[in-house]
Amino acid sequence: MNNRFDHFEQIGSKVLCEKNDISDKTSVPQWLDKDKIRRAQSLAKNHFFGVFFAHLSGLILLVHIKSILIPLISTGNSRSVAHLFGRYLRTLVRVKSWYEGDIWDPNHQSHQSVVQVRKMHTKVSKDLNKGKEEMAEEMSLSQFDMTVTQFGA
Ligand code: HEM
Repeated sequence: MNNRFDHFEQIGSKVLCEKNDISDKTSVPQWLDKDKIRRAQSLAKNHFFGVFFAHLSGLILLVHIKSILIPLISTGNSRSVAHLFGRYLRTLVRVKSWYEGDIWDPNHQSHQSVVQVRKMHTKVSKDLNKGKEEMAEEMSLSQFDMTVTQFGA
């Protein structure tokens, strides 16, 4: 298990999180089952506090990972307690809208929110990875960071 995790970290930390320019067009995967998503959304709605408490606990763990902390600090949006409050209130509002809306429908506000966040990630990644060569060295906002964030938060 540890070997597999180390391997995943070694390779995944050299792969960028967003490879292409983000457009508003998102292809819906064939395997997507919207009924299951609606059931999960209803479950999340009924257990809102538990779900968001789990997200918060995950976030507290994640900022202890250096490759995640550095990009967060770099933008200045985490420079004071007041900024942190605003930053994570915005995050909560966004993530709540993803749980409630249809992120796959380009006309839906929650879809537009996902596109905006992907653009934020791409911008920070481009700034921090200037001059770096993918697959040759560690990238900021890598696939490894994305995966542990999804798992942890
Ligand atoms: C699947 C995983 C992730 C999700 C769901 C997510 C979610 C979000 C959301 C909702 C925002 C918008 C915040 C706002 O409106 O101000 C955001 C922005 C941002 N995210 Fe992520 N994020 C993820 C992974 C990561 C990772 C791995 C990093 C760092 C390595 C990161 C760094 C940032 C940064 C720097 C911003 C710009 C806002 C700021 O300065 O804090 N994110 N993310």
